[in-house]
Amino acid sequence: MKEPFVDKNKLDEITEQFPTPFHLYDEAGIRQKARDLYEAFSWNEGFKEYFAVKATPTPAILKILQEEGCGVDCASYVELLMSHKLGFEGHDIMFSSNDTPASEFEYASKIGAIINLDAYEHIELLKNTIEIPKTISCRYNPGGVFALGTDIMDNPQESKFGMTKEQLIKAFKELKGLGVEKFGIHSFLASNTVTNDYYPALAEELFELAVEVVEETGVELDFINLSGGIGVNYKPGQQENDIFKIGEGVHQAYDKVLGAHGLTSVKIYTELGRYMLAPHGLLVTKVLHRKNTYRTYIGVDASAVNLMRPAFYGAYHHISINGRYDDKATEKVDIVGSLCENNDKFAVERMMPEIQIGDTLLIHDAGAHGFSMGYQYNAKLRSAEILLQEDGSPRMIRRAEVPEDYFATLYGFDFSE
Ligand SMILES: Cc1ncc(COP(=O)(O)O)c(C=O)c1O
Repeated sequence: MKEPFVDKNKLDEITEQFPTPFHLYDEAGIRQKARDLYEAFSWNEGFKEYFAVKATPTPAILKILQEEGCGVDCASYVELLMSHKLGFEGHDIMFSSNDTPASEFEYASKIGAIINLDAYEHIELLKNTIEIPKTISCRYNPGGVFALGTDIMDNPQESKFGMTKEQLIKAFKELKGLGVEKFGIHSFLASNTVTNDYYPALAEELFELAVEVVEETGVELDFINLSGGIGVNYKPGQQENDIFKIGEGVHQAYDKVLGAHGLTSVKIYTELGRYMLAPHGLLVTKVLHRKNTYRTYIGVDASAVNLMRPAFYGAYHHISINGRYDDKATEKVDIVGSLCENNDKFAVERMMPEIQIGDTLLIHDAGAHGFSMGYQYNAKLRSAEILLQEDGSPRMIRRAEVPEDYFATLYGFDFSE
């Protein structure tokens, strides 16, 4: 069982006020998450979380994180534009993109964001496009296989991101020659890790690299960016990550490797998205139909356009019926949306308590890479986002799309109002 952050009566009140489907976020939980993260890394002077905007690109959420001291990690022009409009300035913005158009480097440079270079080859583009910044970061890809224990494995060798060690060293030397004064190293080697060992293992690898790089290039290493990758326990019974153990693990690696080489002013940065937001968002949907053929189908008013992860990756999201958290699971059902795609299923052959038409379902851990991965297939419109504020009142933080939003890009093209 998973306990939602909103109780039955409150959710009933909210669904009376706002039509389903919608994403619901928990302000208190988000703030606490940010405070715990900062406390877990308080041993490191200059620690900063750059929230990965792609996870939840919603101004009200970004402002909450800004108030908690976070910066933003942007991957595109519009993410940069939105963040800048929200008052994120200069080094509060990390621009971690790949396959980057020159125009995006130009805009990142204009607003003073820290550029995290994905490719050695981009140095030439930078030279031809912008004034080389005083601070820059390079993204590292060690190649091979990154294995943690037996169950977390990623294949950097096959990843399009980052540069090799040789390229990174060459890049640092050339960039230093071009006037860069401060450097950062960034790496993202495994996604959604549900273990306290990922960050410490990654950190140790990056700290060892940092020592080698500093010795060989003589650059001033300003920060190491551990990026995203700390995951959440989507499945009930999965052990939740403990950010305090993670922070302590990174601390030990820091003392052991960087401390031993006198590199004690290196700042630690993170770019967490999923860990910060996923558990603090629910997709709330109502049951429209029951259908029995070879299986029992529960048809809801949300679909994969509201939360793509189950359809796209077969990802598990826990589903509860509002208020019936302790009920015994008695029937096996597929919980489906209305898209003309057979993978539009939030759950496949899942044991659930008996679900009735009109029930409100809560799809858990949808606060990151949820709304943001939405799309408009079948001319489905994006849903609203609601914030459950700290005082217990709900506030709409993004309205649902209306047909006019869908038509807006079509007017004038064989289509008129
Ligand atoms: C460069 C970069 N940083 C941070 C993140 C956030 O990752 P997560 O949500 O797993 O923390 C991502 C996710 O795709 C990413 O590409």
